[in-house]
Amino acid sequence: MSDKQRVVLVTGGMGGLGETITTKMVDAGYKVVVTYSPGNNKHADWVADMKGKGYDVMAVPCDVADFDSCAAAVAEVRSKVGEVDVLVNNAGITRDMTFKKMDKANWDAVIRTNLDSLFNMTKQVADGMVERGWGRIINVSSVNGSKGAFGQTNYSAAKAGVHGFTKALALEVARRGVTVNTISPGYIGTKMVTAIPKEVLDSKILPQIPLGRLGEPSEVAGLIIYLASEEAAFVTGANIAINGGQHMQ
Ligand code: CAA
Repeated sequence: MSDKQRVVLVTGGMGGLGETITTKMVDAGYKVVVTYSPGNNKHADWVADMKGKGYDVMAVPCDVADFDSCAAAVAEVRSKVGEVDVLVNNAGITRDMTFKKMDKANWDAVIRTNLDSLFNMTKQVADGMVERGWGRIINVSSVNGSKGAFGQTNYSAAKAGVHGFTKALALEVARRGVTVNTISPGYIGTKMVTAIPKEVLDSKILPQIPLGRLGEPSEVAGLIIYLASEEAAFVTGANIAINGGQHMQ
C-alpha cells in the first residue's frame, strides 16, 4: 500500500453483505465510506453503532439508480475524505417473481439499481483512477447472472450485464493500473437470501449447493480484500465465483 491510506467506497455498505465488506476493509487498513439509500433513516444509528465497535466509517446518501445522486455522493466523499481508490459496486435489490407476474416497474427497478448503477457510480471515479495510475473496481454480480434462477428474469439479466460491463471496462483501463473485476456470490446468509420462502430455500436451493450450506458474508469480503490488494494487480476482467460449488463455469 502507498503511504496514503487508500479510500474505499462501498455502495449499499450498510446492507447484509455491505456491512461485513465494510468492517473487513477497515480491519485491513482502508479508509471506508459507505453509501446508503436516501430513504434509509437508520444511517446515523448505524454510523454510531459502528463507531462504538471501533469502526470509523463515513456514510453518504446515494440513490445508485440516479446519476446525479451518485455524482453528489462522490463529490462529498472527495471533499471530506479524498479520491476514491477502490470502488465496490455492491448495492443491489431483488424483486423476485415469475415472468408471468412481473410488471415493468419491477423489471425497471432491478435493472436500474443493479446495472445502471455501475455506469452511474463508476463514471464518477474511473477517470481519476486512470489519471492517478491506480484503481480497483469490484462489481458484485451473482451466481444467478450466469446460472439463471426461477423468479429472477430481472435480476439474472442485470447480473449478467454486470460482467459484460466489467470485461469491456477492464480492457479500456488495463494499461493504467486500474483493474476491474466481477465477483459472483452464490447464496450467502444475508437478509436477501433468508427472505426466500423457507420451503423454497430448503427444497429447491440448498440441495443444489455441494457444500450443503449458505456462504458467509466474511468469505465474500475476503475475496474483495484480495481483489483490492497490490497482489491482485494481474487479475482483471475476471468473474470469480464464490458459491459453494453450486455452479461451476
Ligand atoms: N424451481 C422450480 N420450480 C419452482 C422454483 C424453483 N426454484 N421455485 C418455485 N417453483 C414453483 C413452485 O413449486 C410452484 O409450482 P406449482 O405451481 O407447480 O406448485 C410455482 O413455481 C409457484 O409459482 P408462482 O408464480 O405462484 O410463484 P410464487 O408466487 O409462489 O413465488 C418465487 C415464486 C417468488 C420465484 C419464489 O419461488 C421464490 O422466491 N423463489 C426464490 C427465488 C430466488 O432464488 N431468489 C434468490 C434471492 S437471493 C439472491 O438473489 C442473491 C443472489 O445473488 C444469489
